[in-house]
Formats: sequence, C-alpha cells, structure tokens
Amino acid sequence: MVISPALKREDLPTREGYDRWAPTYDADDNPLVAIEQPHMDALLGDVRGLRVADIGCGTGRYALRLARAGAAVTALDFSQGMLNQARAKAAEMDGSIKFIEHDLSQPFPLPDRSFDRVLSALVLDHIPGLDPFFAELKRICKSAEKGAIVVSVMHPAMMLRGTQARFTDPVSGCEVRPQSCPHQISDYIMAASRAGLMLDQMSEHPVDEALASRCPRAQKYLGWPILLLMRLRSPIRLQ
Ligand SMILES: C[S@@+](CC[C@H](N)C(=O)[O-])C[C@H]1O[C@@H](n2cnc3c(N)ncnc32)[C@H](O)[C@@H]1O
Repeated sequence: MVISPALKREDLPTREGYDRWAPTYDADDNPLVAIEQPHMDALLGDVRGLRVADIGCGTGRYALRLARAGAAVTALDFSQGMLNQARAKAAEMDGSIKFIEHDLSQPFPLPDRSFDRVLSALVLDHIPGLDPFFAELKRICKSAEKGAIVVSVMHPAMMLRGTQARFTDPVSGCEVRPQSCPHQISDYIMAASRAGLMLDQMSEHPVDEALASRCPRAQKYLGWPILLLMRLRSPIRLQ
C-alpha cells in the first residue's frame, strides 16, 4: 500500500481497494454507470431464459438486473466486500444467481461454451493479462449464432487525463485508487483478436449535456469519451 499524505491518496492492490469501496460503491454518483446502462441493455438483448456469466460482478449491479429479467446468472468476483453486498441484495431472490469468489487472472471455474451471454462491465482496466482473460471469455461463451460477449470499460482516454477508478473513503477522507492498468484501445482489440473473437459492435461514449446536467461528476468531462463498449462473438465451430 502506498499512502501519499500530501495528496491524501492511497494506492491499493485491486482486491483490497474494492473491499474498501464496497460499502459505498452503490451510492457513488458514477458517470460511467449512468452512461453505460442503456447501451449495455441494448447489446445484451432479451435475456429471458438465457444463461449469463457476469465476470467481475461487483455489488451485483448487472447480476440482479439480469436475474430479474429472467436469466440464470453465474457471477464471479474476487472482492469479498463487493460479493457480500451483492449476496445481501440477492437474498430475497429465488436463487437464480450463483456467486463465486474467484480471481479472474486464473482460469474461470466454468464449463466450455456454457453461456448465452458473457458480460464483463468496468473490469478490463484492472486486468493486467488481457490475452488469457479474453481467451476465457471466449471459452465459456456459446458460438456465434447463440452466444455474445459484451464488455464495457472506462475509456482509455480517461487515463490520459490521469483519471482512473477511485473513490473517497468516508472514514479517512483519502482518495483511494484500486490498482488499474493503462491499456489502450488497440490492446483490447488485439487481445480479443488473438483469442479468436470477432468484433461485432464497438462504440465510444462522450459525456453530453444531458449527462453533465444530471451527474455533477461528469461535468468536467463534457465532450470527452469516458466509456468504451464492445460486443464480441466466437466464430461458428466447424465440426
Ligand atoms: C468497477 S467494479 C465493476 C463491478 C460491476 N461489474 C459493475 O459494473 O457494477 C470492478 C470489479 O472488478 C473486480 N475485479 C477486478 N479485478 C479482478 C480480478 N482479478 N478477479 C476478480 N474480480 C476482479 C473488482 O473486485 C470489482 O468488483
């Protein structure tokens, strides 16, 4: 852990950072979350009756939403703090979400080609090894006509301005930064390509006037791209 007293900033390993963030994560006025949701829903489509893997599920923002929409969800994360929040919120549901504590740098504990949708929201910028990560997304997803992988990430242009995932700890008053990786767009595209995935959709989302007016933290990013979205598919397997 590195503490900078002058800046009141703590740089923490990713897992420890999210354990600390967990109790206040859902209350954050996060412009990425605000801008992302409708686009993500459109890319995922109707999930009723589908099997969905939520990779890096955090406090269950998507796991719960997709389970309520009729999907059977398996949700992975390595932060006990984030998972505890997700499990508490899912307690009154009918068990349609299976939570697994797992470090995504290791092979996922999930069978080959078993999911109709594989989702990973706002996680990639914490993953140092993109090649094995994309290979695992591909391995667990059904192939082209049935399966789709949808990923969102903080736009790399944010890191060029020195912005990365962070929050203000209400106890210490410190800005806490879970460790992030400064990937470029080409790093994501090339890792997906090396995994053998096809890029089906890609979009970049700047802050517009509407978002800036309803989300104060977004105002300083007006006109600047803050979110990158991709939908990927596995090629059809030839027997
Ligand atoms: C910004 S949060 C996003 C959570 C959720 N997907 C959402 O969109 O609300 C990033 C999540 O990725 C998880 N994460 C980051 N690196 C991970 C790793 N190597 N293994 C497992 N989870 C990881 C963190 O614990 C955290 O819950």
